[in-house]
Amino acid sequence: MTEAPKSAGTATLTYGDTSVELPVMAGSTGPNVIDIRKMYAATDAFTFDPGFTSTAACESALTYIDGDVGTLLHRGYPIDQLASKSSFLEVCHLLLHGELPTASEFAAFENIVTRHTMLHSQFDRFFEGFRRDAHPMAIMVGTVGALSAFYHDSLDIHDARQREISAIRLIAKMPTIAARAYKYHIGQPFVTPRNELSYSENFLRMCFAVPAEDYEVNPVLAKAMDRIFILHADHEQNASTSTVRLAGSSGANPFACIAAGIACLWGPSHGGANEEALNMLKEIGTPDKIPEFIEGVKAKKYKLMGFGHRVYKNYDPRAKVMKESADEVLAAVGDPNDPLFQVAKELERIALNDEYFIERKLFPNVDFYSGITLSAMGFPTSMFTVLFSLARTVGWIAQWQEMMADPSQKIGRPRQLYTGPTERDYVPIQQRG
Ligand code: CMC
Repeated sequence: MTEAPKSAGTATLTYGDTSVELPVMAGSTGPNVIDIRKMYAATDAFTFDPGFTSTAACESALTYIDGDVGTLLHRGYPIDQLASKSSFLEVCHLLLHGELPTASEFAAFENIVTRHTMLHSQFDRFFEGFRRDAHPMAIMVGTVGALSAFYHDSLDIHDARQREISAIRLIAKMPTIAARAYKYHIGQPFVTPRNELSYSENFLRMCFAVPAEDYEVNPVLAKAMDRIFILHADHEQNASTSTVRLAGSSGANPFACIAAGIACLWGPSHGGANEEALNMLKEIGTPDKIPEFIEGVKAKKYKLMGFGHRVYKNYDPRAKVMKESADEVLAAVGDPNDPLFQVAKELERIALNDEYFIERKLFPNVDFYSGITLSAMGFPTSMFTVLFSLARTVGWIAQWQEMMADPSQKIGRPRQLYTGPTERDYVPIQQRG
């Protein structure tokens, strides 16, 4: 189903006395790209695009976003259909292998993931090296990187089979690591995975069961968890995915690359936003405080967390599904009249009717309602980004796989516009004034 890029004519760049014809390429949908690979040789000039707002850094067949309309497709399938009809493991198969699995393919895929959930027993000592008050994301960055010290038999990145095994190991072991990061943080013993449970049920049990009392998985919560994982599975070339690709472009092993992705995801402009969004709702507290808060946003004292997106200039399609999940979870285990949910809904209503937000095309993103949902499910805010990293692992590793299989892949090495001093002579310390 992957289509090779097609020629879509040329673009002419005139710079000084030089005129250069640059090829234009078309993908299966979305904007065409101007291929500037030969531009530097022809003009002795670089392009300048900090933040990559106009730069396509790779070819990819995984995920398509039309931010103006608010569309998100994985291998062509709309996210709302996947979120309502599919399961996270099925989406993992889709992202990794390009197609929804047949029944027998799914059974084999589920079986192999389920049978790789355990960690090497020596691995548990890593957790103990962290302070109890360590942020679980700090534990994730460290321990996921440490997987490369345990699974040497899948580190040959030039062997497609070994790459496949690493991908399965990562998808299978992330819930176990994430649950351990949480248990360690709260001082409870680790819970071993159970093969008879689904991916999401297993994760919830590893987080919330205690030796003194087992945990009956509430099907509403298991469904919501699975949906949250689907909604976060991949999002084309976002900051953490680009980090994974850049790390991988040097030939680094997949566990190290995913640890790099987790580090990038942690930032408040990216995965850390769900934690910040809930903190913000708590700070606002009651709907009557919203107008004052909005004035602060307009005065640029702070941002409205969970709003705005580099790509979506319309309602984030993931936010719509997340809002439904918030409703379902609060009805099942929380308070449907939860004051924070009321604040969120009112904040959304006010912001969507305010000229400041309309003009800048700022809409709720996936993080706006995820915090409320996760909180009602029993997760502390410090775990929110951990859950995001668990779910995004499939996207990262599928993108890494795609890059590694691409024969034209080369090390990522951007250029710069240098503004520092030009060459000067060293001055001995006694002569510096
Ligand atoms: N609240 C208030 N104003 C905003 C916001 C916001 N959340 N986001 C952007 N703006 C304003 C910004 O100040 C600027 O205004 P002006 O033109 O007057 O200078 C204008 O909108 C354009 O913003 P930008 O910074 O150029 O947009 P960007 O594409 O660089 O930033 C973003 C995208 C997601 C970093 C930003 O919208 C943001 O910081 N949002 C809050 C954090 C957040 O919710 N992040 C989660 C993103 S979704 C999950 C994920 O993919 O990680």
